[in-house]
Amino acid sequence: MDSRPIGVFDSGVGGLTVFREISRALPGEPLLYLGDSARVPYGTKSPETIQRYAREAAYFLLERDVKMLVVACNTATAAALPILERELSIPVIGVVEPGARAAVSVTKGRVGVIATEGTVRSRAYTRAIHAIDGSVEVIEQPCPLFVALAEEGWAGTNVAREVAEVYLAPLLREKIDTLVLGCTHYPILRATIAEVTGEGVTIVDSAETTALAVEAALHDSAIRASESDPKYQFLVTDATERFLRIAETFLDHSVDHLDLVDIARDQPVG
Ligand code: DGL
Repeated sequence: MDSRPIGVFDSGVGGLTVFREISRALPGEPLLYLGDSARVPYGTKSPETIQRYAREAAYFLLERDVKMLVVACNTATAAALPILERELSIPVIGVVEPGARAAVSVTKGRVGVIATEGTVRSRAYTRAIHAIDGSVEVIEQPCPLFVALAEEGWAGTNVAREVAEVYLAPLLREKIDTLVLGCTHYPILRATIAEVTGEGVTIVDSAETTALAVEAALHDSAIRASESDPKYQFLVTDATERFLRIAETFLDHSVDHLDLVDIARDQPVG
């Protein structure tokens, strides 16, 4: 038994989609969420900048004594997962590989991936899907405005619907049968996205398969907890009220412990 929290981080509210699935799948685990809201979006920044941000978030959470790190951000997973795995002595779980596995398990052969510019540029999903099944056709499409719409609380608006129509049109023309939500912000817009794709396209969100990967890693490292009332704590680097507004409409419970923190500091040279 290990009652230390699991650290979960993202650029903003997006990682809450992963947080929610972990809390559902592992109800005895304390969780510490960090949203780097001062620097959102990550998706438009260079890989070097994302690596710096990801290391700052990781070392900040390590100082808070987390037993595992979940990189609940596809952009940070694509740019920095190998660095974090190499540098940290705790298990590190990313979201791309679980998303790729989920897609391959349901597709009939044509997968669309929507993600940030950074994730698309990295081709991380194409590589991860082809590592499992090289015959799957993968078409990637950046959808940067979805992050702003999710952060703004505009997920269900006509504006979101029109933006989704424009972004998804090329993928629908390519006759995809599966659509991966390759950014953890996008499940917040899932209903709008599903309206545009229609029933012929299966939507895949990596949050559930990531929660399964977390469960397996806890088991392998023998660090599970079984608290009867586990503590959920939330940290953001800016704008606590905005975070609260989105978080409370999205999570299954209220956000009782929310603090503003400053995570930028000198990092160990890596
Ligand atoms: N939610 C993150 C992701 O999965 C980052 C989005 C952003 O900050 O651009 O990529």
